[in-house]
This record gives sequence, structure tokens and C-alpha cells, in this order.
Amino acid sequence: MRRCFRAVACAAACGLAACDGPPDRTPRLDEANVARGLRLVSYKGCVACHTFPDVAWPRGALGPSLDRFGAQGLIAGRLPNQAGVLMQFVRNAPAMVPGTAMPAIPMSDQEARDVTAYLLQLKSR
Ligand code: HEC
Repeated sequence: MRRCFRAVACAAACGLAACDGPPDRTPRLDEANVARGLRLVSYKGCVACHTFPDVAWPRGALGPSLDRFGAQGLIAGRLPNQAGVLMQFVRNAPAMVPGTAMPAIPMSDQEARDVTAYLLQLKSR
């Protein structure tokens, strides 16, 4: 019931034009770990192509800066920035955006979940 109320409140708050499709309830981000996600963006090499507010070096510039990614509405300008979509994008971008320069990066479900949780909390701080 609470969940239902929140969905209705969200729909009302964003209005029809601003919403990027139905809310995605697939991933269980409550099992995700933001600190682990931060370690993974270095370990998996994301920092070679992107900048992150918590990583001083390297600050890759091949891909867009992710400094405020959590405040963004779309992924790669075309997919709704929702946890379920993002979880798939971070490990297999070419499957989601054919022709993209972002490579597929092998990771487990849990790793993708942690990276997703980390990315979604990147807002202006
Ligand atoms: C070889 C370089 C490269 C690596 C490594 C890389 N990316 Fe990317 N990434 C890109 C490029 C290029 C884009 C732009 C894609 C597009 O618009 O088609 C992108 C786009 C993104 C976006 C969407 C950004 C936006 O503003 O819409 C996210 C999120 C992202 N990458 C996360 C990651 C994560 C997390 C990793 C590590 C697991 C990673 N990337 C590794 C090159 C890379």
C-alpha cells in the first residue's frame, strides 16, 4: 500500500511529460553497496573514460563526465535513467545503445547493482 502511494505521488510529482516511462522495480538496490560501487568504478576501469567526483585520478575524458549523473534524466541521451536500465547499460552498453563507443564490461549481478547504486547517488554535492 505504501509502495502504491509512493508510485502515485511520484507520477503526480513528475507529471506526464517529464516521466521517462513506468518506474522500474526489477533490481533490488537495497542490497547494493555504494562504497563497493565506488571501488568498482576504479577496479573495472570506468575511470579511464569517465570522471567521478570521488576519484582524483585518473580522470578519463573519452566518455561524458559522471560527476552529476544521478541528477540526469537519460542515459546516453536516449534511455531512461532508472536502476534496472542502468544496471544493464553499465555492463553491456552496446546491447542497449547499438554503435556506442562504450564497451561491454563483464561484471556480476551484484557488481552491476553496486555500480548502479553508486552512480545514482552522484548529484551536485
Ligand atoms: C572505453 C571507454 C569507456 C569505459 C571503459 C567505460 N565507459 Fe561509460 N561511456 C563511454 C562513452 C564513450 C559513453 C557515451 C556513450 C553514448 O553516448 O553512446 C559512455 C557512457 C556512459 C554512461 C552514460 C553517461 C551519460 O551521460 O548518459 C554511463 C552511466 C557510463 N558510461 C558508465 C560507465 C561505467 C560504470 C563504466 C565502468 C563499469 C564505464 N562507463 C566504462 C566510454 C566508456
